[in-house]
Amino acid sequence: MHPSVVTERPDATEIERAAAVVRGGGLVAFPTETVYGLGADAANGEAVARIFAVKGRPPTHPLIVHLAAPDELGRWADGVDERARALADAFWPGPLTMILHRGGRVSPVVTGGRDTVGLRVPAHDVALALLDACGTALAAPSANRFGRVSPTTADDVRRELGDAVDAIVDGGPCRVGVESTIVELVGPEPRLLRPGGVAAESIEAVLGVPLGAGGGPSRAPGMLASHYAPGAAVELVDDATRGERVATLAAEGRRVIAVVGPRDRPPSTDPLVTVVHHAGPDDLARRLYRILRDADDAGADVVVITPPASEGIGAAVVDRLRKAAAPRPHG
Ligand code: TXA
Ligand code: MG
Repeated sequence: MHPSVVTERPDATEIERAAAVVRGGGLVAFPTETVYGLGADAANGEAVARIFAVKGRPPTHPLIVHLAAPDELGRWADGVDERARALADAFWPGPLTMILHRGGRVSPVVTGGRDTVGLRVPAHDVALALLDACGTALAAPSANRFGRVSPTTADDVRRELGDAVDAIVDGGPCRVGVESTIVELVGPEPRLLRPGGVAAESIEAVLGVPLGAGGGPSRAPGMLASHYAPGAAVELVDDATRGERVATLAAEGRRVIAVVGPRDRPPSTDPLVTVVHHAGPDDLARRLYRILRDADDAGADVVVITPPASEGIGAAVVDRLRKAAAPRPHG
């Protein structure tokens, strides 16, 4: 079956059609401000199990649950404390996921059997309209195959997952472009599990304490060293050595995409080199996954890029770039 595609700026009828798919236990890809999600009713274990099957994702890697409004928090999490309420007030709707004690409504399939759950309210009108129409929460990972680049347009989703989903809701290109920041709030110390769309510095300002570091792969499964990986190799180089590195690769006959920031010198031009400019960390975050996908479409061998400073949204970009550049276990 081909997925039914709900148009960009869907009207109430089209949203209702997608919501009916969710209520019937189906899978609906939908836009958020960060990346597109692959959603199912978070209370329906059978529907959620299909998400893992479609993505090829190990069942122990928990999914984020998306809520229609901040006041839904207490329905899907237990023991919500002052810290969680303060962060919800400050950043929801928005690209912040909080790890809290799992509420009884959340299917254990969502969390891979864990007693914690990741919750967020996305800042996207289409996502909020869909959540509202569903009358439930949507468990949704990024709508890509496991380990690959997250989709930031409906067309990316179609190309990643095609007929494996029941409906795709088109909300245009994602505004933030990298995934949500994940903060764990179940212990005495709040911890940053994944840098993302909300700056860690802003979260610390609200909490009034520094965020502890995440505990690695066992704490947040899915945070593998290699992730967000395009087919092309990704190389991180500093501004001073980029030109030389690009020239060397081109001399070896390799097709290079050189990603160059506003203050970076473009490398010397060679027919094998394509220069892509970005305007700074926010723009690079928004376009990062597009650049990686386009590099694959263009048959590039290597993407050479100078990472931004690891602060604010730049921390998320650096994190994704390191994972895209990491050695791949399966080639
Ligand atoms: O921006 C986003 O967060 C996007 C959009 C669709 O909302 N979603 C997203 O989902 O990035 P996904 O599945 O690609 O990444 C979710 C991450 C995983 O690395 C997972 O390990 C972590 O969230 N996670 C979810 N629940 C968790 C839990 N209970 N404890 C620890 N980590 C959790
Ligand atoms: Mg993902």
